[in-house]
Amino acid sequence: MPLFDVYPLYDVTPVSGKDVHVYDDKGTEYLDLYGGHAVISIGHAHKNYVDAVSQQVARLGFYSNAVQNPLQHALADKLETLSGCTAYELFLCSSGAEANENALKLASFKTGRSRVVAFRNGFHGRTSAAVAVTDNKNIIAPINAQQEVTILDLNDVEGTKAELEKGDVCAVIVEFIQGVGGLDQGSTAFFEEVDALCKANGTLFIADEVQSGYGRSGKFFAFQHYNVTPDIISIAKGMGNGFPIGGVLIHPDIEAKYGMLGTTFGGNHLACAAGLAVLETIEEENLIANANAMSAYFMEVAKSIPEVKKIKGKGLMLGLEFDFEVGDLRKTLIYKHHIFTGGASNKKVLRILPPLTLTKAHIDQFFEALKLALAPVNTTV
Ligand SMILES: Cc1ncc(COP(=O)(O)O)c(C=O)c1O
Repeated sequence: MPLFDVYPLYDVTPVSGKDVHVYDDKGTEYLDLYGGHAVISIGHAHKNYVDAVSQQVARLGFYSNAVQNPLQHALADKLETLSGCTAYELFLCSSGAEANENALKLASFKTGRSRVVAFRNGFHGRTSAAVAVTDNKNIIAPINAQQEVTILDLNDVEGTKAELEKGDVCAVIVEFIQGVGGLDQGSTAFFEEVDALCKANGTLFIADEVQSGYGRSGKFFAFQHYNVTPDIISIAKGMGNGFPIGGVLIHPDIEAKYGMLGTTFGGNHLACAAGLAVLETIEEENLIANANAMSAYFMEVAKSIPEVKKIKGKGLMLGLEFDFEVGDLRKTLIYKHHIFTGGASNKKVLRILPPLTLTKAHIDQFFEALKLALAPVNTTV
């Protein structure tokens, strides 16, 4: 049976990984500065993770949410400690889109309203409501288009105010650093005004931390760079280091009711073991401090490359903007220099989303390769 052909593929077949590297079927080593869309947080095949997942699957891989599961409580407690988000409750699911879908449903349940305000060039996933609040017509099917959504420009405080004052908006959903869009960020004043406007108008503030969470921005959550208090925080990607797990942190003002949310796979034993191993490793190896140190070094070196027009993002959620489209550059980096990087909706942005275990040597290797890869691009311009 052929696979449904929805992904353009690079002709590389990774078969194993170790820390910041993956190895293909011919034994070639690749430096992974992309982490498979920001998923690999603690490094490929980390020993703690491999041990935890292997031991758990040998014991009990799965049982449903109809029984006691102490691993869910252990995960929630560790998440509370590391994130500092002490006033929230946790619902576990299996992906970023599902996390946002649940976040939007909760906002609608709580407020009795159905309109959502989201921002241009954002991305929140591909399920029904999540895709409708994503600003890309190509991925919104007619069945999704019936959602009530208003898309505004990032930093449009006046527009947000006007929409929220109409009194029918259940949620404002924000990426504090846009991922898929290309690493753009709203201003501090914008985020703080939106937070205040939500509180003044009975609208819930959803922080989509699916990509920016779990230390990637240099703080546990990207919203923690600002003085804001989201009502709901959605998480996934780095949370499982490759194991499909997501979740929503929910302010206790939103009262749980039986049946309000649910999932078969969310929060299963294996997922929780993976999630716990990730949090323990982030703590034990001081990976957030490392993300900050490596970010500073990366930015310093990036400044010395004249072709780099803008350095975007925070922590190890970074983008290098050029004045040309980076598709060919990414191919050269992969095929010639064996380095994985990412693209974005903004075609001039090279996305850098490495494991948080990155070292200076990896950064040096990348910039040496980038300089070589840029040389032929320059001569053809
Ligand atoms: C900010 C953000 N939200 C949501 C999603 C959707 O996550 P998933 O692909 O796990 O459904 C993504 C995926 O790239 C994302 O970057």
